[in-house]
Amino acid sequence: MDRANSVGILTGAGISAESGVPTFRGGGGTAIWKGMRFDQISSAEMVRRDLPAVWEWFDYRRGVLQECEPNPAHRAIANWQDRFESLTLVTQNIDGLHRGAGSRDVIEVHGNIHRSRCVSCSKMFQMDRACVPHDPDTCVCGSPVRPDVVLFGEMLPEGAYEKGAEAAASCDVFFTIGTSALVYPAAMLPEIAKRSGAFLVEVNPEETPLTSSCDLSLRGKAGELLPLL
Ligand code: OAD
Repeated sequence: MDRANSVGILTGAGISAESGVPTFRGGGGTAIWKGMRFDQISSAEMVRRDLPAVWEWFDYRRGVLQECEPNPAHRAIANWQDRFESLTLVTQNIDGLHRGAGSRDVIEVHGNIHRSRCVSCSKMFQMDRACVPHDPDTCVCGSPVRPDVVLFGEMLPEGAYEKGAEAAASCDVFFTIGTSALVYPAAMLPEIAKRSGAFLVEVNPEETPLTSSCDLSLRGKAGELLPLL
């Protein structure tokens, strides 16, 4: 850490667990909403088939998030911005808690739950965090809006992954924090970093498919470990 000029970070649901945000695959189970697996209700197909049901699930999650604040792990990462010459933060989380903690230029590869977008003209709307259910419901062009998040079966926002991959390929240290490292292409980033010679550190209370490739696996909670670093 003392010798590193350039740091890359990938975070997942686990970094927000201590803020009270449920993870997707934690605790040996899989999140279920009204009998549907999270990857069914959060899918491109559901937007086409039943957009109101998709909104019900996302408004429920927005309601849960109203009670959630950034935790010491988000704050530690925000402080690292001034510690290293270059720091690239890529998150799979849509909760906005990194920005809430003060991180700038966060690459949100899966979008942001506080934003919606027109299904026809793609106009975006920033929603008020306090406003649940979502508003507006319809775009100025008359078409319905959908959450501006990446759903299963959809591509990542243009350029987002590429920026992360560039940082992963050129950093001295790469952290993978609170992610099961199962969802591609984000899960590629630690692999790229490792292949390019970075020191790869994992922070997770559990083993992941990435653990065996890591130079250091810090087994514990992000909110407890990151402030110590
Ligand atoms: P997962 O729920 O798959 O994994 C969460 C990880 O966090 C697990 O490996 C846990 O062991 C770990 N964890 C739990 N508590 C932790 C803590 N206090 N500190 C550190 N780690 C902790 O979540 P993701 O890997 O983020 O995509 O899932 C990736 C993507 O799958 C999500 O972005 C989402 C989901 O489908 C979309 O919504 C498109």
